Amino acid sequence: MSGRRKFIKKTTLGTIGLGSVFSSLSATEYRLKNIPQSKPVKKPVVISTWKHGLAANAEAWKQLKQGTRALDAIVAGVGVSEADPNVRSVGYGGLPDREGKVTLDACIMDKNSNCGSVSFLQGIKHPIAVAQKVLEKTPHVMLTGEGALQFALEQGFKEENLLTEKSKQSWEKWLEKSKYRPVINIENHDTISMLVLDEEGNLSGGCTTSGAAWKMHGRVGDSPIIGAGLFLDNEVGAAAATGLGEAVIRTAGSAMVVELMRQGKSPFEACKTIVERIYNKHKNHKDMAYLQVGFIAINKNGEHAGYSVRPGFNYAVCDDEQGNRMESAQAKVKKSN
Ligand code: GLY
Repeated sequence: MSGRRKFIKKTTLGTIGLGSVFSSLSATEYRLKNIPQSKPVKKPVVISTWKHGLAANAEAWKQLKQGTRALDAIVAGVGVSEADPNVRSVGYGGLPDREGKVTLDACIMDKNSNCGSVSFLQGIKHPIAVAQKVLEKTPHVMLTGEGALQFALEQGFKEENLLTEKSKQSWEKWLEKSKYRPVINIENHDTISMLVLDEEGNLSGGCTTSGAAWKMHGRVGDSPIIGAGLFLDNEVGAAAATGLGEAVIRTAGSAMVVELMRQGKSPFEACKTIVERIYNKHKNHKDMAYLQVGFIAINKNGEHAGYSVRPGFNYAVCDDEQGNRMESAQAKVKKSN
């Protein structure tokens, strides 16, 4: 048989083989059938980054139990952190940029992959609620800056000063040296990201932040970027990020975590693989000195995990079996800086 005929025969047989498998299953169903299944946990499950996730989870949980739909529960849940002046990395009281302006980023995504996002938004306490309006009321995914503010005002949001006296004092102190160096794991860089597996087994998520303290005016991080700060595929799982946004954007972090879960990895393995990729890509990078990135992820079975570059990252979990509590994430390196 000539080389060409052999090739044609092989290709045809290969096609027939796959064709018989795919005849009754879509490509995605075929892959999902091959993902190792663990025992599903009781739903709903809510997970959120960092300690302020506890209060956020509590509110979201209350809403879910009252029958509120997941997206509204997320807006209410992370809204608790946005409104808390003592959470100085999110919303009201967030640390400002180097010009003393509090600028906010947020995004939200539902089970049908509908997304809404706002970035570089000033003067609105609840950017996550504006992101939800972008999802529900516009033909777009993302609004930014002046346009996002104009839209928020049109939707009835109130403009207010978000710079608290405490954050103003921190900024004035920073101005004395004006050195930009994000500090690992301190409160100035901890986005709240929340992922929900609801009673029906559907996934949704949101994240909201005031971003890196002392950033350049106009800087936008990973948190409003679907695929970077947040991503989900309702057939597979959901993931969200916290930490140095530039590093998460460079690697399309959350989308990659979800894609690895699609290929059969557990949430833990998927988060770990992408954290390791980020670590390796930044080995010789100027950002390595203050590189901290953490991911949380949950799959359709309700299994969840967190993993970070450096120790100190944790996340809050709320479910029926064990209530609302903190879980420590494992880390790639042993030292915190
Ligand atoms: N992860 C939040 C930010 O970098 O802005």
